Order: sequence, then structure tokens, then C-alpha cells
Amino acid sequence: MTVYDSIGTTYTATRRPDPRIGARIAAALGDAQSVLNVGAGTGAYEPPQTVLAVEPSQVMIDQRPPGSAPVVQARAEALPVADNAVDAVMAVLTVHHWTDLTTGLAELRRTARRRVVILTWDQSVTREFWLVKDYLPEAAALDDTRAVPPAHLAALLGGTRIEPVHVPHDCSDGFGVAFWRRPDAYLNPLVRAGMSMLSQIDPVTLQPGLNRLAADLTSGTWHTRYHHLLSQPDFDGGYRLVIADR
Ligand SMILES: C[S@@+](CC[C@H](N)C(=O)[O-])C[C@H]1O[C@@H](n2cnc3c(N)ncnc32)[C@H](O)[C@@H]1O
Repeated sequence: MTVYDSIGTTYTATRRPDPRIGARIAAALGDAQSVLNVGAGTGAYEPPQTVLAVEPSQVMIDQRPPGSAPVVQARAEALPVADNAVDAVMAVLTVHHWTDLTTGLAELRRTARRRVVILTWDQSVTREFWLVKDYLPEAAALDDTRAVPPAHLAALLGGTRIEPVHVPHDCSDGFGVAFWRRPDAYLNPLVRAGMSMLSQIDPVTLQPGLNRLAADLTSGTWHTRYHHLLSQPDFDGGYRLVIADR
């Protein structure tokens, strides 16, 4: 039983890959002819040249669409793949879940011939996001314990560049910051279920902050405070691509 066997049951209901973020990941992978997707989940952002997906949760594996790349149930810390097996290895919104980051990253380096591409977030930026700052500090507290600073990944991987990935206002992938311009969405339990920063916290703990958000949306307080966001096309919620060449 993995964490995502519990919290991943409705993942595909709200976590549809966003094409603009997909284009950024595809560009980061460059001309790689073979790709290994680690922490692959339901297959979001997997490019056609993916030769293998690695995912520990059976619940997530079961939601992979027909025609997806072959998948093996395993963990980043022990990839069942030969040295230098693929041109590029990708790991999207997963490194914060790994139990042994250093070993997992060493495995990415061992299996990638040319490039490692990681999508993660910079908690020093995300901590300032209005939802966690004003309403749900408990979510920031959880992510403070597990977020991996992009600079730390860069130091461990070497040969790295870091690129910001801004979140479009109508982002289709319902991760933590996705609804920055659609605040009512955070009141929907199905939306919250697709975000590990909220679904891994006792709902009773979150309820007072959610009640305050609901009240501020009804009274107009949220709109008074954040009206400047409503004309923004995208938002820097801290998401970062870490691209390491071998
Ligand atoms: C937020 S989901 C991201 C899934 C997919 N990459 C995406 O972008 O939709 C995080 C995934 O990491 C997986 N995961 C957790 N621990 C892992 C580990 N040690 N090695 C590999 N994957 C892991 C989870 O089971 C889950 O499917």
C-alpha cells in the first residue's frame, strides 16, 4: 500500500495534463528518442517516445489510459532498468514523495544517457501563495517538511539549469496552485482530493481556513484583496523545471 493507493483514487478527475505545461516539458526533453518516466502516476505529460513508466502505486497504474507506455511497479530508489538505458529520464511532481531522494536522483543519473528533467516547486515562492499564506498555513507546513529546493536538486545532479514554469489561469492540471485565479475551486472536496498538499492533511484541520475562504468569497473580501490577479494570464506559483545534462 502506497500513499497514492489512498489519495490517488480520483486523480484523473481533476489532474488532466495541461498542454502548455506539457509543451515546456517536451521542450526540456529536447530531441531525446527514448524517455523513462519515473513517478509516472497516470501517465500525465508522458511523451510518445516514452519506453517505460515507473510507478509504485497500483491505484495510479490502473488509471493509465489504454495505449500508454509500458509500466512497471517500482520506486525511483531502485529502478529496474540498466545503466544508460534511455536518452532522458523525466520525473514530474514526484521527488517530494520519495523516501530517499539522494538514492533516487542517483538512479535517474545512472539510467539517463543524456538528460534528466524534473518538474518540482520552490517552496520559498509557493509559501507566499494566497491560499496557503492567508487560509491554509497547515498546507505550507506540510510542504515545508518535504519540498526539495530546486537549487538542492541542481547541486545533486550537476550540469543543471532551472526554468520557471508559470501556471496559466485556466490550467487543466489541478495541482496545488492551479486554481490561483479560480478561488471557489478550493471549496470543492474533489478538487482538494487531487492535491497531495491538502489531501494528506486531516480535513478537520483544514475546515476553519476553508470556512474563512468561503466567507471572504461571499463578502467580496477575497476580490478586494486579490482583484489584481483577475487580469493576470498566468502566475508564478513556484513551479520549476530542473534540467540536468550528463
Ligand atoms: C503528484 S503524483 C505525479 C504523477 C505524475 N508524474 C503526474 O505528473 O501526474 C506523484 C507520484 O509519485 C509517485 N511516487 C511516490 N513515491 C515514489 C517513489 N519513491 N518513486 C517513484 N514514484 C513515487 C506516487 O505514487 C504518485 O503517482
